[in-house]
Amino acid sequence: MEATLNVDENLPSIAEFLKRRGVRKVLDLGCGAGRNAIYMARRSFEVYGIDISDEGVKVAKRRIASGEPYVHLKLGSMFSLPYRDDSFDAAISITVIHHGRLKWIKRTIRELKRVLKPGGLIFVTVPKMRLDKDVPKERRFGVKFVAPRTYVALGGDERGVPHYVFNRTLLRRSFKGFKIHNIWINQGSYCLLGELRGK
Ligand SMILES: C[S@@+](CC[C@H](N)C(=O)[O-])C[C@H]1O[C@@H](n2cnc3c(N)ncnc32)[C@H](O)[C@@H]1O
Repeated sequence: MEATLNVDENLPSIAEFLKRRGVRKVLDLGCGAGRNAIYMARRSFEVYGIDISDEGVKVAKRRIASGEPYVHLKLGSMFSLPYRDDSFDAAISITVIHHGRLKWIKRTIRELKRVLKPGGLIFVTVPKMRLDKDVPKERRFGVKFVAPRTYVALGGDERGVPHYVFNRTLLRRSFKGFKIHNIWINQGSYCLLGELRGK
């Protein structure tokens, strides 16, 4: 019997949607320890996962070695993706792309556009936070703002990593060039489903 994966709640319906749209090759941008990538591979997608965390990728590799369906895993950064143009039918990215200054996030989205085929589909989530209320509580070690809407944690695992605080409008604006099917809120995150317009 398959071990239960604690995946993003939206993923089962997103996977169904992608299947109906004929998607085969999927990128999991910021795959971490691989829960969402493995879920998609179990559903017979050809999955590629990339993450900047050595530890995350190692754990994901161990899970695959212990019998999960294969995922092509790479250690690397979303700011410069090691894939050719027009490689993927779809990309998913679960609470990852906010990890950067706005300029780097824009670069990531350009990279996503580059590696997606025309008409490629995206499912992206980012934390929904209130700048005044949620951010100060976010880290036990405290936070420091380094740019508008951008804070770094002062301690812990994500020490020094910038976090950009999206709102619905900024998220929509960042994904211009994509036809946005829907933006909704689930599990404390904004969720965006979109489709790349012609390149
Ligand atoms: C909250 S975790 C989510 C992991 C995974 N998507 C999931 O849902 O389980 C955020 C992930 O983003 C990754 N990350 C942060 N900056 C990155 C970058 N520049 N390139 C690739 N991955 C990055 C982190 O290493 C971490 O695994």
